Amino acid sequence: MPQHIRTAVIPAAGLGTRFLPFTKAVPKELAPVIDRPAIHYVVKEAMDAGIQHIAIVTSPGKEALGEYFKPSPEIDRLMRGRGMEGVADELRQMGEALTFSYPVQAQQLGLGHAVLCAREAVGEEPFAVILPDDLLVGDEPVLAQMLRAWWANPGNYVAVEEVLRERISAYGVVDLAPGGQVDPRTYRLRGMVEKPPAEEAPSNLGVVGRYLLMPQVFDALARTRPGAIGEIQLTDGIARSMEQCPLYAYRYAARRYDCGTPLGLLAASLALALRREDTAAEVRGWLRGYT
Ligand code: G1P
Repeated sequence: MPQHIRTAVIPAAGLGTRFLPFTKAVPKELAPVIDRPAIHYVVKEAMDAGIQHIAIVTSPGKEALGEYFKPSPEIDRLMRGRGMEGVADELRQMGEALTFSYPVQAQQLGLGHAVLCAREAVGEEPFAVILPDDLLVGDEPVLAQMLRAWWANPGNYVAVEEVLRERISAYGVVDLAPGGQVDPRTYRLRGMVEKPPAEEAPSNLGVVGRYLLMPQVFDALARTRPGAIGEIQLTDGIARSMEQCPLYAYRYAARRYDCGTPLGLLAASLALALRREDTAAEVRGWLRGYT
């Protein structure tokens, strides 16, 4: 029986260069999607999937991330006095259900290196990784969907979706094992490659920022040398540990918004505002005005 997955690692040490000059003063993960920072949504997704500990990998100068998740009785009171019970309850629930730790990645050596920086915070047990740029909106949290598959067939899991050929070289790309379909959404893999040229991509399924990983991945990452774009890649570390653990891709049911660029963030805000009862009618009204 596998151990329960208790910790989600959220790499958030990047400099946020795509969001300059905003990121001169504020970490990009705190940029608002409507009224909550982008990272709030992925932390909630983790909580809704039963995760108990969030390890946010940061870098010097990004202390505001820790401030956001610190309980604040004054703000709680203020919100409740202004009719904002819903969000106050959500924050309170996060404070009760989750503990937070903040491992530091002092040098920007790549995503694989960022995850390795969380080793002590995770311990030698299975864990999740959530990339906060990938906001996934659907009926069931994607991490919860993946955990169901993981309990049925433990191993390393990467979330995937179909990606257009002209965009595929920006992704980790999975190589499906022939006859390796386990259920309608789960596929056994025989490999995985980071940012391949489109003509060498082994499939059209790109890795999206949700992973369930076995602790063996840490040893593999410690041995992984810089790969694509000169960085220590998480994809390479996971592919390396395939000898010890089976590797699966999970094709999730949700819509993805890329909060890693200013326009993607705008699209995420619009999409969520159109789904939210308190904002949908007003936003529809504006959109009619623009067309
Ligand atoms: C990272 C991963 C890549 C994955 C992508 C998804 O790349 O290295 O495998 O496909 O996230 O968002 P990045 O976007 O940081 O270059």
